[in-house]
Amino acid sequence: MQIGILGTGRMGVRLAAMFADRGHAVVLGSRDLSRAERIASGLRRANIKAGSYEHATNAPIVLPAMFIRDGLFDQLDPLRPALRGKLLIDITNPFNDDYSDFILPWDTSGAEQIQARLPETRVVGAFKNVWWEVFDAPRFGDTLSDVFVVGDDAGAKQIFLELTQGTPFRYIDAGSLKNARTIERMTLLSGEMGQRYGFFPRMNYKLLGDQWRPGSADAIGSLIART
Ligand SMILES: NC(=O)c1ccc[n+]([C@@H]2O[C@H](COP(=O)([O-])OP(=O)(O)OC[C@H]3O[C@@H](n4cnc5c(N)ncnc54)[C@H](OP(=O)(O)O)[C@@H]3O)[C@@H](O)[C@H]2O)c1
Repeated sequence: MQIGILGTGRMGVRLAAMFADRGHAVVLGSRDLSRAERIASGLRRANIKAGSYEHATNAPIVLPAMFIRDGLFDQLDPLRPALRGKLLIDITNPFNDDYSDFILPWDTSGAEQIQARLPETRVVGAFKNVWWEVFDAPRFGDTLSDVFVVGDDAGAKQIFLELTQGTPFRYIDAGSLKNARTIERMTLLSGEMGQRYGFFPRMNYKLLGDQWRPGSADAIGSLIART
């Protein structure tokens, strides 16, 4: 599969490497092409190419890896025609500058705001609770941590699950895009707790429950595993 990533920060670089290691073709996009070229060459994976945001948006799957507070909505606006019909993987948490709170009110989420601005794009929310250092060493002992996947388009979720097959997380269908309100705020909570207890930022959630095993249907019904 082909994926374009917008932004060469903590998440963009790690997600580019993760998807490239699963054999996907990645365009790592930056506002600054020379920065993208330097970072892509440092990642030493032939299937990661550098590009602009426009170039990265040519891919059928697009993942913006930047903050809403830094102008994500404005960056996406001119890309709207190119994003029509595509899968957009939304990883945003609408943090303020000092990470003490969110800049969006309780009755919405980054995922819903993006979907509202791009009504013809298929938005799937994921990776919101996975703090960046987890990607460097994803296993917690023998345990894989969870990625809660939200979206209103079942077909788009299925493409997402195919894309992420074999990556070191357990993917759980967490329902509609509206559930991003809760999932994004879980990141606010984990950030505060991780700093209080000294394990920030190597942390993520794991939904417990001994009735369920990877790959089997269970009482939760829509739980989906990829290990
Ligand atoms: N950090 C985490 O642990 C984590 C976890 C889950 C989700 N997220 C979400 O992932 C997204 C990216 O987070 P991150 O930690 O990777 O951010 P980051 O390290 O600050 O990188 C963000 C990237 O956004 C691009 N960008 C575009 N416009 C910008 C502007 N005006 N100012 C600054 N950067 C701008 C930059 O890439 P170019 O210069 O290459 O254009 C920059 O490298 C956010 O929405 C965040 O909520 C983060």
